[in-house]
Amino acid sequence: MLAAETTARANANVALVKYWGKRDAVLNLPSTGSISLTLAGLAVEAAVAFDGGVSDRLEIDGEPAGGEEAERLRRFLDVVRAEAGSSSRARVVTRSTVPRGIGLASSAAAFAAVALAGSRAAGLRLEPPALSALARRGSGSAARSVLGGFVEWRRGERPDGTDSIAEPLAPLDHWDVRVVVAVTSSAPKAVSSRDGMTRAAAAPFYPAWVEGAEADLAAARAAIRARDLEALGLVAEHSALKMHAVGLAARPALLYWRGATVECVHAVWALRAAGTAAFFTIDAGPQVKVLCLPADAARVAAALHALPGVERVLTCAPGGGAQVIA
Ligand code: DP6
Repeated sequence: MLAAETTARANANVALVKYWGKRDAVLNLPSTGSISLTLAGLAVEAAVAFDGGVSDRLEIDGEPAGGEEAERLRRFLDVVRAEAGSSSRARVVTRSTVPRGIGLASSAAAFAAVALAGSRAAGLRLEPPALSALARRGSGSAARSVLGGFVEWRRGERPDGTDSIAEPLAPLDHWDVRVVVAVTSSAPKAVSSRDGMTRAAAAPFYPAWVEGAEADLAAARAAIRARDLEALGLVAEHSALKMHAVGLAARPALLYWRGATVECVHAVWALRAAGTAAFFTIDAGPQVKVLCLPADAARVAAALHALPGVERVLTCAPGGGAQVIA
């Protein structure tokens, strides 16, 4: 007998040491580990019920899901069903406070929320490691959104991926920082993370990217432990710039930045030259996310907001892990 409808909420996260490339595309196992911060306020809520019917019924932000987005969600529900030993079709309704498809990690929040709601609705009670491994099958970065605060998703060594899971690096109250997000374009991104990673894996700089990851992870772990913003910020910028450099050298080339993205980078460097500790990172889109201390967040937000091409600015505090809410 399957449980009744369950609703869960999960926050997006921003990677400070990036995941960019897979060692197994089916199990969604990464070539490298990654480290992120879960962000409060950029959440997705998912309600899931395995209530029979002839097919899965999927609604995203008030619209029936279609195309690749629906396919991905259905394939993920198949993974949940396989774990639960069920064949029942599901009704899934998700609601997002993250703008979708613009590089603000909405898929991370969405698959973490669906993994938690779906596993519970299917009668499973998964501990965080198993929940993280399940969420990973939907979207790699979702493995990290299962947990709050600073999180490391371990690459893992096993071919079955059971050790490729996220772990907390510190309790949520360990270190209060801010991430200021400059949105430079609300247009859907042209190349998904998934396709971008496939292209990047064939690029000449990719082996160097993979080789450098362990050192970046070690530096980020130590910086988080010591609450050293400069050390963490510098490794985050380095990781992001290397990730984008791999794409630039791909064929065809991969460039997620717009002009305003570059303006934001220069503005962050100018803030730093003038004494404000601010450090950027950029994901598979044109938005710029800036790590800083709470006391500097308003100054950073104002500097980014003043730039031509910056559409809006959001400021996020560290957020908690995925939770069942109904
Ligand atoms: C640039 O998790 O969206 O944001 O596993 O194929 O769903 P899939 O990819 P996804 O990739 C995120 C890439 C990134 C970096 C990161 O979040 O680590």
